[in-house]
Amino acid sequence: MTEELAAVCKELRLGDLGKIASQVTFQNEAQYLTDVLRLVAANREIQRVERLIRQAKFPVIKTFDCYKYHPIAWPKGFDKEQLLSLDFIESKQNILCLGAVGTGKTHMATALGVKACSLGKKVRFFRMSDLAAELTEKHRAGNLTKMLKQLQRLDLLILDEVGYIPCDRLSSQLLFNVISNSYEQQSVIVTSNLQFGRWNEMFGDDRLTAALIDRLVHRAHIFSFTGPSLRYEEAMKGEHLNK
Ligand SMILES: Nc1ncnc2c1ncn2[C@@H]1O[C@H](COP(=O)(O)OP(=O)(O)O)[C@@H](O)[C@H]1O
Ligand SMILES: [Mg+2]
Repeated sequence: MTEELAAVCKELRLGDLGKIASQVTFQNEAQYLTDVLRLVAANREIQRVERLIRQAKFPVIKTFDCYKYHPIAWPKGFDKEQLLSLDFIESKQNILCLGAVGTGKTHMATALGVKACSLGKKVRFFRMSDLAAELTEKHRAGNLTKMLKQLQRLDLLILDEVGYIPCDRLSSQLLFNVISNSYEQQSVIVTSNLQFGRWNEMFGDDRLTAALIDRLVHRAHIFSFTGPSLRYEEAMKGEHLNK
């Protein structure tokens, strides 16, 4: 590639064109240009998805490959095809994954998030206690509004491990704000080991808890994870050592 061509590629943000151009076989001008530009577009798409996955900050990447669906009680009128179509994101509906530890809640939430990124959706994964701490910190530093705006730009917010650590009054209110803002504006996936009846233990305020659950469950698909702990089963078989 000449210096001039490299400069114009840079200007047009076609940095990868040089490499791609040398990989494509020339038959005629129209075919060559089409093939090169198709590859540039495909590369861009891959980079966009990779960026979305990085920005989502999943703790571990999980997918639906080899995912076992049988230990899950499905919500009425909702099947695997509908879940994997991710139409719930388009309709701004929520997914709630409730069940004991090790039953696959985080795996499902992450796999849905990764799939959403591959379809170009903006996703962010938080452990609830981390989100609570970040909201409190931003509130104290006086830049909460910026963070709330960033959260509102998401297509899908994943809140993992709701219920493991109780929240203080301020973080409960800040989390309630986030859930209120998301209501009918964006999808939320929540995983929790606590049945709703016990969520007030976590937020410490019956009225706030009732209002929060009300917003979350309205038009939500609720999954019960009823199987045994897969972590425990893996550990007993020694499979976790092979990962
Ligand atoms: N349905 C499933 N099929 C295959 N592997 C699974 C399934 N559910 C969970 N796992 C694996 O079992 C382990 C525990 O699952 P995880 O989603 O962390 O449980 P939870 O969030 O309910 O505590 C993880 O390594 C996960 O990848
Ligand atoms: Mg989990």
